[in-house]
Amino acid sequence: MEDLLGRMTLPEKAGQMLQLDARRELPELVLDKLAGSILHTSPAKLIEAAELVARTRLRIPLLTAEDCIHGHGFWPGATVFPTQLAMASTWDPDLLERVARATAVEASSTGVHWTFSPVLCIARDLRWGRIDETFGEDPYLIGELGAAMIRGYQGDGLDDPTAVLATAKHFAGYSETQGGRDASEADISPRKLRSWFLPPFERAVEAGCQTFMLGYQSMDGVPITANKWLLNDVLKQEWGFTGTLVTDWDNVGRMVWEQKVCADYAEAAAVAVKAGNDVVMTTPAFFEGAQEAISRGLLTEQDLDGAVRRILRLKFELGLFENPRTPDPARQAAVIGNPEHTALNLEVARRSLVLLRNDGVLPLPAAAGPRRIAVLGPNADSVSAQLGDWAGDSGQVDWMPGGHPRELTTTVLDGLRDLAPDGWEIHHEPGAGIVRLVPDPEGATFPDGQPRPPIAEPITADPAQLENARQAAAGADYAIVVVGDTVELTGEGRSTATLELQGGQIALLDAVVATGTPTIVVQINGKPHALPPSALAASAVVQAFNTGMRGGQAVAELLLGLIEPSGRLPLSAARHAGQLPVYYNQLRGQHGGRYADLSQEPLFVFGEGLSYTTVVYDGLSVEEPEVTADGVVRASVRLTNTGGRPALETVQAYVSDLVTSVTWAQRELKAYRQVTVEPGESVTVTIEVPARVCTLVGADARRVVEPGDFELLVGPSSKPQDLLTAKFRIS
Ligand code: NOJ
Repeated sequence: MEDLLGRMTLPEKAGQMLQLDARRELPELVLDKLAGSILHTSPAKLIEAAELVARTRLRIPLLTAEDCIHGHGFWPGATVFPTQLAMASTWDPDLLERVARATAVEASSTGVHWTFSPVLCIARDLRWGRIDETFGEDPYLIGELGAAMIRGYQGDGLDDPTAVLATAKHFAGYSETQGGRDASEADISPRKLRSWFLPPFERAVEAGCQTFMLGYQSMDGVPITANKWLLNDVLKQEWGFTGTLVTDWDNVGRMVWEQKVCADYAEAAAVAVKAGNDVVMTTPAFFEGAQEAISRGLLTEQDLDGAVRRILRLKFELGLFENPRTPDPARQAAVIGNPEHTALNLEVARRSLVLLRNDGVLPLPAAAGPRRIAVLGPNADSVSAQLGDWAGDSGQVDWMPGGHPRELTTTVLDGLRDLAPDGWEIHHEPGAGIVRLVPDPEGATFPDGQPRPPIAEPITADPAQLENARQAAAGADYAIVVVGDTVELTGEGRSTATLELQGGQIALLDAVVATGTPTIVVQINGKPHALPPSALAASAVVQAFNTGMRGGQAVAELLLGLIEPSGRLPLSAARHAGQLPVYYNQLRGQHGGRYADLSQEPLFVFGEGLSYTTVVYDGLSVEEPEVTADGVVRASVRLTNTGGRPALETVQAYVSDLVTSVTWAQRELKAYRQVTVEPGESVTVTIEVPARVCTLVGADARRVVEPGDFELLVGPSSKPQDLLTAKFRIS
């Protein structure tokens, strides 16, 4: 490697640091800018890229990156799994590791070496457009699930040709938006960062994640790209990260044209390199800027060498010099969307569904003779809402205008038509629209030339459409109303000001529920919505998030009682946007517990979810009430299934530090176990919480265990009334 580095010219080094957008002309990127990496490369261009590398002087293989966020969503026909938020509702790291492995197997066969996943941002403000990309709001759960996906992507090691590089992103604090607005200044002190935002990333380093992507935001006036303290002192020095950093999209350019903290690209290049960035995503002017920075004495060539060395090392570790891992049609035919991955997709979709309300209407009585079902709502038959962001035609790539082949996705309507018992009548009416796209009056492009997305305008209720749905509901035994949002209301730069269901959806729910027909509300969305009173008066509410290609089948199975509901919310849902933030682990200390005009209680809480049975928790006991700081708190609790169907319970263990030197959260998740309890069965579940995780971050921003009295809280959700408590002491 040193030999290669020694032979590289300055332009070759600057180019090697560039990761450029392959939707542009490839010869320009590879031959003129000498890019070391590309992203968003169409299937045809993946082949062209390898041919172009052969024409460069040193023939250094390209690192090809893609956003395989929940499956290799930009490869036609690849397996599109549920989104991260939906997957997080399973709370099952092993399942997620298998999803990431399957994704790596598919992506690697197409010539992709690097996925920009997982997202380890914590969900804070539900208005943020990227809530769907998170694992929810809890740092511990995020750490567990993120580590699992990293293991799955990177497989047995980078020299395994089915491994892809994982990326822990967006480092760190990007989700602490102001008002939910994307990439705004994040108001986070180092102590707050260490308390909530950093732990999942530290876990990613422990899991061996090879690359980290920065966020977009600035903190305390410092753009993340320039944050030496975070990148060097914390990530590299303190945590020992030796991998490679990649900026987010044009972060280096943004310091010039958006944040205006650098006068030109030479200055921006110098700031970025000195702060420790390696791969510079989509700032083509970095190529000239870095060279000019050296001629102006702002940087030395040795400064670039550090970054180039880390990039070359990745390429050597992936073995790209011997095997550039170009697209392999034979492997693609065997693995893309194969039956094994499709079965896994169905399994994860089933496990992701969260039953939030049920007055006994569910499961529908499959054995009770013919029934008439009205399947209503704009998302009952929507492929794109089900697949969510980062898939097919969700807006990021230009080679899949028609999305994935339609037959690969089972919508809820398809699922019910396939699975309803013989003789059942299924009648479908959309009943309402959600939003339509209209041009942004600000113009078609941003200052950097990137396309400016159009605006999502609510579609007002159409009386005739609504009446058709109302009549269908009135004439049915059950109404299933599938509501939610669309990709136009989800994703980067698509935050929402409100949390209400958009378009004609509330009018639809009001009209359907008013018919008196037992109504089941299914939400397919990228974030929890503040549901209207009619939805809350319905007989059942199911939270499905973006359930992926097999989601419609999974929903139909759940409604028909062919599977058991087992998902648990990985984040809290608000009654009203004015309640935000509603995450469960807020700091103690405020006057009262409600607003003058509204409760502070979330609509649904972190960890919540029902089964088709009832499970009673009792007999929580802690083995040793006093442990040393290096000891383990061991406890057991008994679960009894008092109903008639099996349950897959997620037994959640929270810890409360009773008196703390600084204000701290009332309780934090520290462990959980998943266990099946058969009807009538009692199961004793043991829980272990190492004392060393019962920490807080002190006033000096250091994480410590403060000896003293603690409470262990165990139950089926984070709701205080659901939790049994037992005291313990750390000496
Ligand atoms: C910007 C997004 O913030 C990031 O998550 C993504 O990986 C990159 N663009 C590349 O598409």
